Amino acid sequence: MLKIAPSLLAADFACLKEEMAKVEKADYLHVDVMDGQFVPNISFGPPVIAAAARISPLPFDVHMMVEEPERLIPDIFAAGQGKIDCITIHWEACRHVHRTLQVIKNLEVKAGVALNPATPISELKYILPLIDRILIMTVNPGFGGQAFLSEVLPKIEDAANLITSAKATCDIEVDGGIDRQTAPLVVSAGARVLVAGTAIFRAPDPEQVIEDLRQLS
Ligand code: DX5
Ligand code: ZN
Repeated sequence: MLKIAPSLLAADFACLKEEMAKVEKADYLHVDVMDGQFVPNISFGPPVIAAAARISPLPFDVHMMVEEPERLIPDIFAAGQGKIDCITIHWEACRHVHRTLQVIKNLEVKAGVALNPATPISELKYILPLIDRILIMTVNPGFGGQAFLSEVLPKIEDAANLITSAKATCDIEVDGGIDRQTAPLVVSAGARVLVAGTAIFRAPDPEQVIEDLRQLS
């Protein structure tokens, strides 16, 4: 069964409580943390995560677009108040990816690694045992509402092959430009967790979009 993770970045921040209520039937709440360094944008951090954790029933899928995320991981974890299912860091943002993954695993939450469109899947080969989720970016990180990059599709297949050959159990997640048109492409390539911001929060009926995407499996 596919898992659907609406990205809070596309919600109307002026009424977050109502926005979060619209996506309660999803599997995860995808929470994008940006630092204005690794990506040119700044979104939100621990205080907003703490407020969201008080009202959302969903497990949080935290996507850290932050340089050297180790610094911020303890605060993010504490802000989640037990709601955090997975913390995903960017391979490109860590000097010592293995060590950063150990920091996450020590918190007893899932650890994910995100790859920018230009980063090959082979970078993950020797750290696969520490990874629960591979997040393949299908746009350049930093902003919602960008167009899906179809040239990344073969990387999803490469990830599926790597996982099979290593007998690993990681989920493959995709993020960026996912909607009713692009979701079937990523699902046939092997994606099992779909992040969607604009396609869900800006739709007249977010719940219906979540259900439609989930039915693709
Ligand atoms: C982009 C973020 C995404 C973003 C996706 O850097 O990681 O999660 O919210 O937005 P859409 O689905 O609109 O492309
Ligand atoms: Zn994201």
